[in-house]
Amino acid sequence: MFGRIRMKSASILFFAILLWSPASWANQGQWGGFFYLFPKSGAEFPAGARSSAAKQLGSIGENFGNDFNPEKGRVESIQYYTAVSYSLDRKPITMSPAALIRVESMRRDNVENYLNQLREILGVFFTIESRFAVTRQLNYTDAETLKQLKDNAPKRGKGTEQPNAVVFPLSKIPEWWALTQEKRQQYFFKDPERFGKEQMGHNEIGFLYIRQIFRKLYHSRFDDPGGDFITYFEFSDDNLEAFNSLLEGLRNVEKNPEWKFVAEGPLFSGKRVSTPADMLGAGH
Ligand code: HEM
Repeated sequence: MFGRIRMKSASILFFAILLWSPASWANQGQWGGFFYLFPKSGAEFPAGARSSAAKQLGSIGENFGNDFNPEKGRVESIQYYTAVSYSLDRKPITMSPAALIRVESMRRDNVENYLNQLREILGVFFTIESRFAVTRQLNYTDAETLKQLKDNAPKRGKGTEQPNAVVFPLSKIPEWWALTQEKRQQYFFKDPERFGKEQMGHNEIGFLYIRQIFRKLYHSRFDDPGGDFITYFEFSDDNLEAFNSLLEGLRNVEKNPEWKFVAEGPLFSGKRVSTPADMLGAGH
């Protein structure tokens, strides 16, 4: 009898510890839906329609925590963005989205349902492009690197503190996927004897900026034809330059030969906003 109670208390404690552990490291299998809103040419979007659409978006987003003020441990979340720039391989793309919405859930169908409702509300005014990706286990990180990542990861910021966000899908070319696990892992670590004296590697370059930039990696290989990964970043205005240097560092194939295998997707740079009304310019 007492044994059973002890077992029960032990399992309650176990699940309590699981729930309590910092979600940013624990969350594997969290789906992210990235919904790009491209204005339809010639489609007017009058003030009345804007505020009615904003209200409807408010209600379909109700079950998700608003990530403008992130709640620790909340895995069902929504964040709205207005676009600042949209580019491919550093060149601006003329057909650019006006806004983007990121919806996250442990259940892909929750994200899909949101997208269906979004299309019903905004489909007349916007062409909505979607990408889906999921957080997974680490593939190339050894214990020492993991400790360094955990010790230095920045606190997740509010939209007022870290208003800048980047959504950057990218893929690796078939030659990368043909390499062995061991060979692929080597590219993340500094090894000038193997790669030449300029080489730093992905991790060494990343660690220069880790405290300034919040980052999240989603995988989408075989899940979404749009690419193998979606990389996601948030940072303060003070760190805009730091983000650009980080990106240029990773793109430099002398310093980071891994990038020879990268095919970049369109880079969306935007501002986090707190409500659908702010995103649609609908006033309050
Ligand atoms: C803030 C600094 C950064 C740090 C500390 C960092 C660190 C890392 C680490 C440790 C991994 C390996 C994850 C694993 O074990 O699976 C990784 C993977 C990755 N990172 Fe970064 N990174 C940073 C910035 C960036 C940036 C700016 C980009 C994109 C421009 C990026 C794109 C990627 C991609 C696509 C992967 C997955 C690669 C693969 O699985 O083949 N990272 N990063």
